[in-house]
Amino acid sequence: MRILGIESSCDETAIAIISDDGGEIVVEKSLVSSQIDIHALYGGVVPEVAAREHVSAIFPMLLECGVSRDGHEIDAIAVTAGPGLVPALRIGVELAKTLAWIWKKPLVAANHLEGHVYSVWSNTESTPQFPALCLLVSGGHTELFLMHDHGKYELVGMTRDDAAGEAFDKVAKLLGLGYPGGPILSKTALNGNPHAIEFPRPMHDSGDYDFSFSGLKTAVRVYREAHPETSVEDIAASFQQAVVDVLTQKTISAVKQFSPKSVILSGGVSANLALRESLSSTLAQHFPHVTFHAPNQSLSGDNAVMIAIAGLYRAKQQDFVDPLTLEANPNMRLV
Ligand code: KG4
Ligand code: ZN
Repeated sequence: MRILGIESSCDETAIAIISDDGGEIVVEKSLVSSQIDIHALYGGVVPEVAAREHVSAIFPMLLECGVSRDGHEIDAIAVTAGPGLVPALRIGVELAKTLAWIWKKPLVAANHLEGHVYSVWSNTESTPQFPALCLLVSGGHTELFLMHDHGKYELVGMTRDDAAGEAFDKVAKLLGLGYPGGPILSKTALNGNPHAIEFPRPMHDSGDYDFSFSGLKTAVRVYREAHPETSVEDIAASFQQAVVDVLTQKTISAVKQFSPKSVILSGGVSANLALRESLSSTLAQHFPHVTFHAPNQSLSGDNAVMIAIAGLYRAKQQDFVDPLTLEANPNMRLV
């Protein structure tokens, strides 16, 4: 089965073609066009600007993928239907609907968060076993959930305010590091001491699996104002350590309680090397039989390979939608 994946939920336009070769996923094409430089001028993503950029990029990218005029080699189309920014989502959704209707191909309404989870299935050498515990950390979401089988999720915990990526972005902004915050802050942290400042570990002892990052952001601001002499590198490293500690501790506690066979780390923040290292080494130390899975760095951020893989599993279950009625859903839920 060969799937065309389309993603336009935020500030990346992405198109991919994958195929399922006897159960092994083969990435045939993967194109990502980032709008980061444009949104950096505004300090964040502007939905209308994102939509305009998607319109300009998406059709040339489809052609660059080498897809035939009649789409005969494609078996199904998967498009991110939500969650995300409506003006941005609609560009990908309308293209997918049009292609599905003209080509007479089945259409999958993929969930962006499910896509992030499925990004780890691109690594054919080691795929997760069920039940898997998923830590999804992106710009808009921070969630822990159990994946009992393909498409079967149970929420375990989530953030009560800011998402982890959002916290990185906001702290980077208040430290004057620029946009997008996560990659710049983690790079800055490489030259700092993660134990220089004991920032709070929010919700560490809350007894549940929920997170909260907005108080940590405030703690950084207050500290910065009171200690202008402290280096930005030390603040960045200490902030990152606090986030990594909380994410690791909650995930490990959930492993203890739910005994999954695998742990999946995904979403944009999964690119963070300190988080990958902390989670994988703590897991290996305490639960060596539980396998750890994180996407290749190139698939940590938004891409269409992950949407096509999520679409492949939905397509195998004949979980299709009507191209005449599909609408982008900014609040689409996974659980
Ligand atoms: O999944 P994603 O690409 O887009 C959403 O679906 O939100 O995640 C983007 C988020 C941003 O907040 C970005 O700052 C963060 O992921 N991020 C990072 C790193 N790379 C990206 N956060 C921490 N460390 C990184 N290396
Ligand atoms: Zn994302």
